[in-house]
Amino acid sequence: MSPIPEPTILQNSNVALIPKEYAQQTDLETIITRYKTLRLRGLQENPNAFSSKYEDEVEFPYEKWLARVTNPEARSFIAYDDRTQSNADPVALLLDREWLGTVTIVGPRLLPEGNRALAKTPWGLFLPLDNEVLDEGKPGSMTLVYMLYGMFVLEMGRRKGNGRRLIDRAVGEARMEAVEAGASRVLVVSIAERYNHAARQLYEKCSFDVWDDELVVKTPESQECVAMVLDLKL
Ligand SMILES: CC(C)(COP(=O)(O)OP(=O)(O)OC[C@H]1O[C@@H](n2cnc3c(N)ncnc32)[C@H](O)[C@@H]1OP(=O)(O)O)[C@@H](O)C(=O)NCCC(=O)NCCS
Repeated sequence: MSPIPEPTILQNSNVALIPKEYAQQTDLETIITRYKTLRLRGLQENPNAFSSKYEDEVEFPYEKWLARVTNPEARSFIAYDDRTQSNADPVALLLDREWLGTVTIVGPRLLPEGNRALAKTPWGLFLPLDNEVLDEGKPGSMTLVYMLYGMFVLEMGRRKGNGRRLIDRAVGEARMEAVEAGASRVLVVSIAERYNHAARQLYEKCSFDVWDDELVVKTPESQECVAMVLDLKL
């Protein structure tokens, strides 16, 4: 008797990178409005998951959202509904489809191997910079450090692999960049609220480990957080 085939799991969503350049100014404005709407929903619906506050960001002027979306150091990804698959370009897809979630990856910061920030708190590199060690050293011995921010999936899109797809895509870009740069190691860091079970489980599923045995990081808002770190040796 032939084996019973595995059920086919249809993937109903996909991930796109928000482009930095647009042929039409109105497309950029629409993307910014959609990004802002999703971000504010995250802050409003899950206030404890973020160190930023809805009350602050809702007051941001357009220019601040524009700077976020076009920041050359940051890449924002969108999980979108992809039940009717198409080969349209990312801008057309992002304008047309329902958005389900987002994550932003910032970096890289380049560090020579053995730098003390690597052994202690690599996310410190993303606090206001003192520039003491950046961009030094030979490519072959370099570590590229990235931070993930703003991970959020709408309730309706949860437990369907969207969070995982967003992380996989962001990490995939970081890895590719590091390989091209000839780096020896990549660290991807995400700071998660200590009792945010869903987020911690998600990161663990994506091979992140909690850093330094639950070292607690205090945010300016006095939240207790842990650093989840993916350590890739290339
Ligand atoms: C955390 C969050 C992004 C997860 O998104 P998601 O799309 O549901 O994640 P996925 O479907 O890709 O889940 C992947 C794995 O993560 C784990 N996971 C996700 N949500 C979970 C939950 N509520 N409880 C336990 N494990 C969970 C599971 O292991 C899951 O795999 P499984 O469904 O096969 O068991 C989402 O719950 C969210 O937006 N929460 C509010 C904002 C937030 O906490 N952001 C993180 C800031 S650090």
